[in-house]
Amino acid sequence: MPSLSVHAGGLDLKNPVLLAAGILGTTGASLCRASRAGAGGVVTKSIGSVPRAGHPGPCIVHVDCGLINAMGLPNPSYKDFQAEIDAARKGGVPVIASIFASSAEEFAQISRNLDADALELNLSCPHAEKYGSELGRYPDLVESVTGAVKAASSVPVWVKLTPNTADILELGLAAQRGGADAVVAINTLKAMAIDIETGYPILGNRFGGLSGRAIKPVAVRAVYDLASRLEIPVIGVGGISSWEDAVEMIMAGASAIQVGTALLQGYGIFEEIASGLSAYLERKSITLDELCGMAGRCS
Ligand code: FUM
Repeated sequence: MPSLSVHAGGLDLKNPVLLAAGILGTTGASLCRASRAGAGGVVTKSIGSVPRAGHPGPCIVHVDCGLINAMGLPNPSYKDFQAEIDAARKGGVPVIASIFASSAEEFAQISRNLDADALELNLSCPHAEKYGSELGRYPDLVESVTGAVKAASSVPVWVKLTPNTADILELGLAAQRGGADAVVAINTLKAMAIDIETGYPILGNRFGGLSGRAIKPVAVRAVYDLASRLEIPVIGVGGISSWEDAVEMIMAGASAIQVGTALLQGYGIFEEIASGLSAYLERKSITLDELCGMAGRCS
């Protein structure tokens, strides 16, 4: 079968199908389970500098073709999370720590003190005051945060970008100027659901971020735009739930992909996507490298 191994964003991956941040990434055991189910790498739940309880519930609501979540970045702080990363490493694939903070200095402090195979900077959570896209929608902040983390850490730095902006390419270029090893596109889209019997917004936080199949075309477009202009790799995420979706995202220019909401189908999704991708490459007699960015080369 064709090789699925890839070097992307400073990491050697046995295959390009990774666990996305936020889904089943809160313990070493669940991260290991994803690795053992065939993920080529795993991204943790976003970790900050102090413990946070997150938003009041309900924190997740099912909608047509996806989920809206407003977790509110709950986490035990990086000091208490290192043991989970250490346990996750027993899964044998790279462990990428997703981190969030409210300033470049705070990002740098976490980066200096967290031991993981790579860092993914959450500059894109759409529903947490002072964090995520509240910084990540400004190119100058994306650049300075990325630069501060690069200076503080020796591992590859990935920057997860928000789609809640007029021009995601500006953000990608800023991450590249800051020295990012890759950008990850996209995080969730700002969204809301209302209970029509009572008139109440369903989520405790009133609004949250939409993930799942509904956002895949938005993610494909963002990856295409970014991959067309950036020199660093783009990791594609958003609504991927089948090997066909993975092929499309890689054709758009993704060097690797992440799977999140589709984990609702079970851990078998990693193996299903990887084997479908491999069979596709064999049937088409092409390599992963040739598939990557194919849509941009079609005229
Ligand atoms: O609230 C959360 O933990 C979600 C984070 C995100 O969307 O990046």
